[in-house]
Amino acid sequence: MSHEMILDAVKALKGHKVMIIGDLMLDHYLIGGVERISPEAPVPVVQVKDESYLLGGAGNVARNIADLGGKPLLIGAVGTDRNGEVLEDLCGQAGLSTRLIQDGDRPTTVKTRIIAHNQQVVRVDQERVGPLSPAEMDTLFVILEENLPDYPVIILSDYGKGFISREFMDRFMPMVQGRSTPPLVLVDPKTVNYDLYQGVDLLTPNTKEASEGANLPVSDRESIIEAGRAIFRRLGCRNLLITLGPDGMALFEGQDSIRHIPTFARKVFDVTGAGDTVIATTALALAAGMDLLTACTLANYAAGVVVAQVGAATATPDDLEETVNELPEPQVTFWQE
Ligand SMILES: Nc1ncnc2c1ncn2[C@@H]1O[C@H](COP(=O)(O)OP(=O)(O)OP(=O)(O)O)[C@@H](O)[C@H]1O
Ligand SMILES: [Mg+2]
Repeated sequence: MSHEMILDAVKALKGHKVMIIGDLMLDHYLIGGVERISPEAPVPVVQVKDESYLLGGAGNVARNIADLGGKPLLIGAVGTDRNGEVLEDLCGQAGLSTRLIQDGDRPTTVKTRIIAHNQQVVRVDQERVGPLSPAEMDTLFVILEENLPDYPVIILSDYGKGFISREFMDRFMPMVQGRSTPPLVLVDPKTVNYDLYQGVDLLTPNTKEASEGANLPVSDRESIIEAGRAIFRRLGCRNLLITLGPDGMALFEGQDSIRHIPTFARKVFDVTGAGDTVIATTALALAAGMDLLTACTLANYAAGVVVAQVGAATATPDDLEETVNELPEPQVTFWQE
C-alpha cells in the first residue's frame, strides 16, 4: 500500500457513521498534593488542586470516531445521578450523538483516580455490574430498531459491566443477521464474555485477551497463529485482529489468511486507550467502504499517534496524515506456518 493510498484513505473517513453499543464509564481525576497524614487514620490527606472528567469505555471509543471525522452514535446506560449528567455533558462537548438509557437502579459507572505528586494514591470505583432490566432491554431494542438502517458498522464495546449480556446478544445477533444488508459487528472482547461473541464479523483482542480466549499461552508467531485458530473454532467469527502492543497487529481474514502489520519504533508515552483507537479507526474505515487490511493499517497508524501522547488521547485526520508522511510504508507480511 503506497503513501498516497493511505492518505486517500485518511481523507475518506469523514462523515461516515458508526454505532457504538456498550459499557459507558466516566474517568474522574482528583489531582493534588500531600502535606500531612490524617489525624483520623494512618493515611495521607490529599489537597485537591485540580479535578477533571473524561469519557471512558464505550464513550472513549465514540470520541475516537468523532475526532477522526466520523459520526458516532453512542448507545449505553447511565444512572439517574449527577455523574450521569456529567457524562452526558461530556458526550455533548465531544460532538457525539447519544441514546442513553437512564437506569434508576444503578449508579453511573465512575472510576476516580486520586493522584498526588504525579503518583496514583488510590482508585475508587462506583459501579454495579449486571444486565439491563427486561423493560430497559425493550427500550434498548426500540432504539436499535430505529437506528439500525443508518449504521453499516456496529462496535460492541464490552468492559464487562453487564451491558453486553447473554440476554442482549440473544436478541441482537438475530436482529442484525435478519436484515437484508446486515451491518458489520465488531467486538473488543472481555475475557469472561467470550462465548457471547458467536459469529461476529471482527474480534479485536490484545495478546492477553487472545491467550485467555484460546486457553493457550501466547508468545511467538506460532502461538499467536494457534491461539487465533482456537478463537475461530470457539466463536465461528469471520475475522480476527490480535493487537500485539509494540509488535503491531496480526490480521486473520478467516483462519488461513494471516498477515502481520508492524509498528514503527517511536517514543511511547502512554499506551492507555490504544485498543479503543484500534477498534474505532477500523470500524470507521470499514464504514467508509475500505477493505479490512486497509482499515487495520490505518488503525495501526492511529494507535501509533495515540501511544505517543499522554492520557487517553485520540487521533485526528491531521495527526494521521502527519504520521503517515513521517513514517516509511508498513511492511505487511504474510504469516505462514
Ligand atoms: N509500545 C508501542 N509502540 C508502538 N505502537 C504501540 C505500542 N503499544 C501499542 N501500540 C499500538 O497500539 C495497538 C494496540 O495496542 P495493545 O495491543 O496494547 O492494545 P490494548 O492492550 O487493547 O490497549 P489498551 O491499553 O487500550 O487496552 C497496537 O496494535 C499498536 O498499533
Ligand atoms: Mg484493550
